[in-house]
Amino acid sequence: MFTIQKKGGILKMKSWKSLLAITILFTSLFFPAIYQVGAFGPEVANDVNFSSDIIYQIMTDRFYDGDVTNNPTGNLFSSDKSNLKKYLGGDWQGIIDKINDGYLTNMGVTALWISQPVENVYAVMNDASGTTSYHGYWARDFKKTNPFFGSMADFDLLISTAHANGLKVIIDFAPNHTSPAMETDSTYMENGRLYDNGTYINGYSDDTNNIFHHNGGTNFSTIEDGIYRNLFDLADFNHQNPFIDQYLKDAIKLWLDKGIDGIRVDAVKHMPLGWQKAFMDTIYDYRPVFTFGEWFLSEGEVDSANHYFANESGMSLLDFQFAQKLRQVLRNGTDDWYGFNQMIQDTATAYDEVIDQVTFIDNHDMDRFNYVGANSRNVDIALAVTLTSRGVPNIYYGTEQYMDGNGDPNNRKFMTSFNQTTTAYKVIQKLSALRKTNPALAYGDTEERWINSNVYIYERQYGKDVVVVAVNRSTANSYNITGLYTALPQGTYADILGGILTGNSISVSSNGAVTPFDLGPGEVGVWEYKINESSPLIGHVGPMVGQVDQTVTIDGEGFGTASGSVKFNSSSATVVSWSDNQIKVKVPSVAAGKYNITVVKSGGTISNVYDKFEVVSGDQASVRFMVNNAYTSSGQNVYLVGNVYELGNWDPSKAVGPFYNQVIAQYPTWYFDVSVPEGKTIEFKFIKKDGSGNVIWEGGLNHQSTTPINSTGTVIVNWQN
Ligand code: NOJ
Ligand code: NOJ
Ligand code: CA
Repeated sequence: MFTIQKKGGILKMKSWKSLLAITILFTSLFFPAIYQVGAFGPEVANDVNFSSDIIYQIMTDRFYDGDVTNNPTGNLFSSDKSNLKKYLGGDWQGIIDKINDGYLTNMGVTALWISQPVENVYAVMNDASGTTSYHGYWARDFKKTNPFFGSMADFDLLISTAHANGLKVIIDFAPNHTSPAMETDSTYMENGRLYDNGTYINGYSDDTNNIFHHNGGTNFSTIEDGIYRNLFDLADFNHQNPFIDQYLKDAIKLWLDKGIDGIRVDAVKHMPLGWQKAFMDTIYDYRPVFTFGEWFLSEGEVDSANHYFANESGMSLLDFQFAQKLRQVLRNGTDDWYGFNQMIQDTATAYDEVIDQVTFIDNHDMDRFNYVGANSRNVDIALAVTLTSRGVPNIYYGTEQYMDGNGDPNNRKFMTSFNQTTTAYKVIQKLSALRKTNPALAYGDTEERWINSNVYIYERQYGKDVVVVAVNRSTANSYNITGLYTALPQGTYADILGGILTGNSISVSSNGAVTPFDLGPGEVGVWEYKINESSPLIGHVGPMVGQVDQTVTIDGEGFGTASGSVKFNSSSATVVSWSDNQIKVKVPSVAAGKYNITVVKSGGTISNVYDKFEVVSGDQASVRFMVNNAYTSSGQNVYLVGNVYELGNWDPSKAVGPFYNQVIAQYPTWYFDVSVPEGKTIEFKFIKKDGSGNVIWEGGLNHQSTTPINSTGTVIVNWQN
């Protein structure tokens, strides 16, 4: 009965209805792993750690029509589902039906990412196919539901049904824009009009409130251009507008109050980093949930700004670098496993927390992985690699049914079947089960153990837990694997996939040497070793950033059942709860900065060091800093430093910038939107810095400004010589 006790705590926390407890009681009998106490695995209540989860991405309109009465009519709808630019009828009831009939839980996925749930435009585009907002990215009211997906009551039922079945729910959220608009033609679509729970605010052509940018469309030439101009024709929010700032924060709180477990943020490359940091601070302060952004990268693209965002924003990112490289190796044939292994090594250092980035093989913005004429085994191999690699795996709906389709909207067809016996479905089933029980997949590092252009054998290891994966992408060649060593202890290991991808058992001798074996064409083998740690080992800390007194969840192993202590550098944190694999603590009262977290087990054994926790100086607000007359010579840029942690504590190497000078204001005026502590009188100066780190300080006294509370701010000064 310990399972119910634990669940009781969760219920109390989320104040769910007691009726649900009964459902959960039954569910826990069928899915005991999910609710087991003291064992590693995805907990539906753990919203800050998705490392052992498997996400399933659903375009709500394209999955299953569970309620025909909410379907649109007229030219919004394609009743025979032939026009993929129309609504096709899928809805939240459809997802509920597919939870209840076991399709999702039998597959083993533990989180659902659904389309943006908010009310979208009803207008139909005046193009050949009459495009609609079926995808959910054309919001008109962020505080109402899209009626074609369902009512608020339907949404509540989706959340409660998902939770009762051990599934988390992630919503897509697109705070970059409303909908397509034209400055000069207010009759085009809905002119980007925004509503606040039914109250009209304004549209793009009557923007007297200045809630939108009016700088034309971006040509994607620079990040600044992409932020402050429109993405395509989408009415682009001015996040410095105090109303919009609060509106978007209130809207996300509304959905957080509904019990969502995660957020996928659309188009993060196209919004100011400062505003997004302040937005994340609001979320972490209100109810922390795992949040990952979309920063699109094309095939072969590596972007340090993408890594910087993942490390600085407080959000994780969709791991496009991983996805594109895997597609090169297994779909497009433009790279091999050496390239893949290099990507694994590069991203392990580029991302502060690579295990929090969300991996995938395809999505609604790229060609589906499978295509007509492709070898479907490549889908199976790609899934096997993704589900056993670092990062939180995300599976795009229909991949398990080998759906194909190049380009939008052919990559967004209506779900074709719900067959639970496809090989891909079974691969997901087997490996999601492994992901739930062996923390080497969630937290382990990755080591290449044997490689050639067709064969990749890699090992994931966390403490003594080990998973070894061998893949052969060749359709023709078998390889004799000799000289393979692993960290697996001596013994014989059965293929976790049970031979679905023709894998076999392997034998390991006492020195880790694996008895030579053949890896046949298209073969994948997965082998594991799992033992409970007795020494404390931190696997994950979530969120990685927080204010003093905020609750932080530390997941790992071997913490012991008796309470020990947790240190942020040398400061002890107040323990909220303690179990062998999870500790919750409050951020101690320390100065803002980066901290090392260690767990000291009762009895004194000290854990590994988690060295990436960031304490911020309090509630954050987005302030636009502008400096006039800052003339620079070539190679120099303008940066900001000041007397708070967020402004680098006067350290020029930690200054904020480089500032922008093209769109909102032009050289010699420079500007940047910065996340700073609220309601504080701060002192600051601008500096000019070049690529070699040479610094020229502004003269005169420090500038001073008091930052706003629950709002945004603007500070304009002249450069002091
Ligand atoms: C990225 C989304 O994934 C894409 O589908 C959408 O059209 C754009 N952002 C704009 O919201
Ligand atoms: C990355 C991000 O900061 C955030 O989305 C997540 O909650 C933390 N890591 C911790 O899991
Ligand atoms: Ca429907």
